[in-house]
Amino acid sequence: MLWDRARAIFPGGVNSPARALRHLQSPLIAERGEGAYLYTDRGKLVDFCMGFGPLILGHRPKPVLDAVKAWLERGWLYAMLTEPEVELGETIIRHVPSVKKIRFVSTGTEATMNAVRLARGYTKRDVIIKFEGNFHGSHDYVLVKAGSGAATWGIPTSAGIPADVAKLTVVVPYNDVEAFRKAIREVGDRLAAVIVEPVAGNYGLIIPDIDFLKTLREETERVGALLIFDEVITGFRLGLSGAQGRFGVIPDITTLGKIIGGGFPIGAFGGRQEVMDLVAPSGPVYNAGTFNAHPVSMVAGLATLRELERGYPYEVADRAAEKMARGLEDLAGRYGFDVVVKRISSMFQLYFKRGDVKTPQDVRESNEKLYLKLHEIALSHGVYLTPSQYEVNFTSSMHTDEVVNEALQALELAFRKLKLVGSS
Ligand SMILES: Cc1ncc(COP(=O)(O)O)c(C=O)c1O
Repeated sequence: MLWDRARAIFPGGVNSPARALRHLQSPLIAERGEGAYLYTDRGKLVDFCMGFGPLILGHRPKPVLDAVKAWLERGWLYAMLTEPEVELGETIIRHVPSVKKIRFVSTGTEATMNAVRLARGYTKRDVIIKFEGNFHGSHDYVLVKAGSGAATWGIPTSAGIPADVAKLTVVVPYNDVEAFRKAIREVGDRLAAVIVEPVAGNYGLIIPDIDFLKTLREETERVGALLIFDEVITGFRLGLSGAQGRFGVIPDITTLGKIIGGGFPIGAFGGRQEVMDLVAPSGPVYNAGTFNAHPVSMVAGLATLRELERGYPYEVADRAAEKMARGLEDLAGRYGFDVVVKRISSMFQLYFKRGDVKTPQDVRESNEKLYLKLHEIALSHGVYLTPSQYEVNFTSSMHTDEVVNEALQALELAFRKLKLVGSS
């Protein structure tokens, strides 16, 4: 069996923890994707994971497929400048308010790592503040009280990070203005940067208070530190200008990934000219990469952003998420479950709890076992919800009304069964 072979050679049988799905007997095996659907060893599934976010146009969208196929004919790695990278850079700069210059890397992890290094190089200070449950990729500066797979697997603070590095990362509760003010008073003029997910998408979905984001902006400015918005998820998902455009809070540095590569490996960090000019070779903050601005990722990203500029993908994806959120609330109510459903644009998450979800603590207080049981039952009815309470569900421009109705019908059966079996 493929799973046995995988287990023999990969730690935990996988190459990224969030794929392991510990509540199931074995992880899923993907065969292909098409539109809103995944074809797997468990059959055809309506996909609400969408590659953990990049696939806003669904699986295998024709404009991206055509662009990539055409480019492959020309070869795929030159270690030279290409036209698509300039076009993608210009397109991002046109839409994302804080980005005036940009550097392409290969992953979101590299993007945040370099953004933090850049902030330290610019301010000549060492300490950063991050927020509990925010996930910025798997490197040492930020793997302290992190979300996503790290939270799912109960390893929010990784082993192997030197204590001297970890102590330079101060962790503050998300969405808590007072705690943040206190931390900034304590760190004071040692603070290089605050890094934040402007909408938290790695501890379930936590929507920030606008005051929280505004305070981050004001306080970093006051103490001469830089504000980094990690928009690896929200960039081009909450609209063309991302969370910063949506909330009107403009950071100094923005990190991007996921959508801007159209489903191919990518990351980017950008900001105002004076800051970005410190990046090598124009300045002393080093970054380099064999695969930086990989032509295939550039072409796929460009084709994706061109579609997004037409507007319709956001209309369809946002409507689908809205309909899913309302549908899930209705179903839960009908079958007697207390739930909170959070949604913004084309992201949503469901929590089995009363009250509201505004902080990581609220997420921890929800019934994770019920979520995982629902996930498992929904899977057997052809719906692939995001596989952890600590991740979010995504919709795409291929999640039409028809697809959403199909998913909600299947979820009705799932809730009925959940009522019978509970979380056992
Ligand atoms: C907000 C955020 N930042 C950074 C990353 C890391 O990106 P990558 O997985 O491309 O390294 C992720 C990945 O999920 C993310 O959600």
